[in-house]
Amino acid sequence: MNLILLGAPGAGKGTQAEAISEALNIPQISTGNMLREAVKNGTEYGLKAKAVMEAGGLVSDDIVVNILKDRIAQDDAQNGFILDGFPRTVPQAEALDEMGVRIDKVVEIFVPDETIKERVSGRRVCEGCGASYHVQYKPSKTDGVCDKCGAKTVIRKDDQPETVISRLETYHKETEPIKAYYEKQGKLETVIGQEEVADTKKLTLQAVGAEIA
Ligand code: AP5
Repeated sequence: MNLILLGAPGAGKGTQAEAISEALNIPQISTGNMLREAVKNGTEYGLKAKAVMEAGGLVSDDIVVNILKDRIAQDDAQNGFILDGFPRTVPQAEALDEMGVRIDKVVEIFVPDETIKERVSGRRVCEGCGASYHVQYKPSKTDGVCDKCGAKTVIRKDDQPETVISRLETYHKETEPIKAYYEKQGKLETVIGQEEVADTKKLTLQAVGAEIA
């Protein structure tokens, strides 16, 4: 099954993509994680993406489409995948169609902006493996330490309050029009993000027809 998770920054795409990945045994493909890795490694794409990511803008379509194309060509993506953070513009959605990629379902996780601002302020991410936590809703076992790899957890550079406002503006302007694109194709389903991660997980897994663990 080829899935897309749509939603504002901090809506819980990464959190739910991880749950779907486990339930359906298909890889989570996060363009945000891939771009952060490129920035960390100082690659050509990373150098181009760094400033725009830190300012809360979007990396250019050609860079992201190329990264995505290479990733979905890998062996582990041949039986399905979940796209987390792609497409983010209508031209990116069109690029998927032009590549001949069949999308089965698009799940939007809807969370109001005010909840997002509060949520993102509590997010912590692992410096080592990129795992994501929340000080209140999904804390690591030891404060400041990643459960998965033991590295330090930190606040993401683009989670500063003023950058979150820019990211939300970018989402409403550039990414929301994608909903109409997939609605026309009869593929869009909306899940209302709940206060508890487990409740949203239940609704998201139902939306993709997966068993609830
Ligand atoms: P990306 O990493 O994709 O960031 P994003 O879309 O802004 O999404 P986030 O990772 O911030 O949030 P999320 O929805 O995954 O939420 P999470 O599960 O972490 O992209 C970063 C940047 O890269 C972009 O700004 C852009 O510059 C660039 N980029 C990436 N893709 C691109 C593309 N295709 N084109 C162009 N540029 C691109 O949850 C958030 C927090 O809330 C966590 O702490 C979590 O524990 C907590 N939480 C989650 N669910 C719940 C719940 N139900 N209740 C309570 N807390 C919850």
